[in-house]
Amino acid sequence: MSTPTRSGLFLTFEGPEGSGKSTQIRRLAEHLTAAGQTVLLTREPGGTPFGDKIRHLLLDPGGGRLQPETEAFLMLAQRTEHLRQVIRPAQAAGTHVLCDRYVDSSLAYQGYGRGLGVELVRQLHAMTLGEFLPDLTVLFDLDPRLGLERARHGGKKSFDRMESEAVAFHDKVRHGYLELARREASRFLVIDAAAPEERVFALLLQGLQERVPVLFEGVARR
Ligand SMILES: Nc1ncnc2c1ncn2[C@@H]1O[C@H](COP(=O)(O)OP(=O)(O)OP(=O)(O)O)[C@@H](O)[C@H]1O
Ligand SMILES: [Mg+2]
Repeated sequence: MSTPTRSGLFLTFEGPEGSGKSTQIRRLAEHLTAAGQTVLLTREPGGTPFGDKIRHLLLDPGGGRLQPETEAFLMLAQRTEHLRQVIRPAQAAGTHVLCDRYVDSSLAYQGYGRGLGVELVRQLHAMTLGEFLPDLTVLFDLDPRLGLERARHGGKKSFDRMESEAVAFHDKVRHGYLELARREASRFLVIDAAAPEERVFALLLQGLQERVPVLFEGVARR
């Protein structure tokens, strides 16, 4: 008799522009894969061919100003496809899913940043996603001035539609994230992302070992 596959974890990575989400999630995926875990690294907006088209619509700097509701609907549309077509099936097959941005980006950017309000954005999500939340959400907290500066230093030549917003918008997003983490402390792991990359990665591994030890179960010691 074969043992039933244990469902994979669903971990999401959030934070303002340039806070190191993509850098750290890539390192974590490499670390876990090298240790013998099966992981899926995915991102939002995106994650499916349809989602990538919506990503382009949302982030194209030529897209101009959109109504906050339009942004929220497009985010929700790509998320519904991503969750049902990719994330849930991967988890069911025992794969741990690492997702670069997810529902908290909508709550922080459209809810707080654009001023739609967190409750309205939550209600929209309830329509198709129910109460489906990640097992754990890592928030890389950083002053957006530093994040935008890092992106510039990293050789980024052009800014996307969100990155091009005023610093005041990004401040609202950052404080929104911190408020979400405060309200749902059991789901969030908050990491000070101002530290050097190595230090942030060490804090990430340490936090995950404490909060989701199952992520490291059955993996080879290195
Ligand atoms: N701890 C760190 N200290 C200094 N620079 C960093 C650190 N982590 C990442 N960087 C650099 O900052 C830039 C932004 O990092 P990264 O792309 O990982 O951020 P992000 O959160 O994914 O950004 P975005 O929201 O634009 O996707 C990159 O050039 C990266 O090399
Ligand atoms: Mg990124």
